[in-house]
Amino acid sequence: MGFGRGKVILLGEHAVVHGYPAIAAGIERGVVATAAAAERDLLRLAPWDLSLEPDENGDEPLQRAFAAALAQYPGRPPLAVSAQVDLPAGAGLGCSAAIGVAVLEAIDEALGIERGRTDLGASALAWEKIFHGNPSGIDNTMSAVGGVALYRRDDTLRPLHSNKPLHLVVGYSGEPSSTKEMVASVGRQLENDPKRVTKAFEGIEVLVRNAKVAIETGDHIALGQLLDLNHTILSSLMLCTTKLDELCQAARNAGALGAKMTGAGGGGCMFALAPKRDEALRLQGVLGTGSFVAEVSA
Ligand code: MEV
Repeated sequence: MGFGRGKVILLGEHAVVHGYPAIAAGIERGVVATAAAAERDLLRLAPWDLSLEPDENGDEPLQRAFAAALAQYPGRPPLAVSAQVDLPAGAGLGCSAAIGVAVLEAIDEALGIERGRTDLGASALAWEKIFHGNPSGIDNTMSAVGGVALYRRDDTLRPLHSNKPLHLVVGYSGEPSSTKEMVASVGRQLENDPKRVTKAFEGIEVLVRNAKVAIETGDHIALGQLLDLNHTILSSLMLCTTKLDELCQAARNAGALGAKMTGAGGGGCMFALAPKRDEALRLQGVLGTGSFVAEVSA
């Protein structure tokens, strides 16, 4: 069985596309997939009741992504792959990357191929490129490897270690978001106003570096403040919506140590950092429909 987990970017999304570091956490919700020899290649996706054939010129990105995945296995037999998706799509939790990782791992298993999860994550980049054009690689890497880690494009992943788990509560705005469009919007802002946007990225990098220390030393009060500041910088890049701001504010008012949007923005998800597990459950009630608790250990 293949498994690709979802991820929460703790700090540094968008800046990471442009070569700055980010910190992300793998979550236990994700995608499981199985593959078996069949008469023809087919990808089935539950719960959307979708069956797709690979087509590198197909209208559906999933058809093109499946074709790109299969192209990595020359001389293989036809394969039927089934994936069960337990993540909202277009919500900033790395759903497309998780599908890619799960599908590739399922194919590896069906063909008796063994490799490490870092390699598996790297091979899902071709899949991600079909969806996002210019992905930093953080989603597919974290989907395969998990844990909490500092990621920088074209650099070795640096896992972070702490003896204090992070009690996260993910809230869903209910607004679909397109990573491709949001990344393109920040790219245009960078082109039109390089000074302002570079300053924003540099500010985010300072927050990421301080957050690394806060996570490693278990200083979640400091971490919460850094999350709030990162949210403000992302707002200045026009990535937050009223609903995301409201959810973050509601979580802070209810006792969260900090809260921010996560992923591409323009909709999708936010998360809050809770001081303890029972507080996380209480915050889940505040964040309402679609919210869930994710405890992650660095
Ligand atoms: C998407 O989960 C995170 C972004 O930084 C895009 C990327 O890193 O590829 C917005």
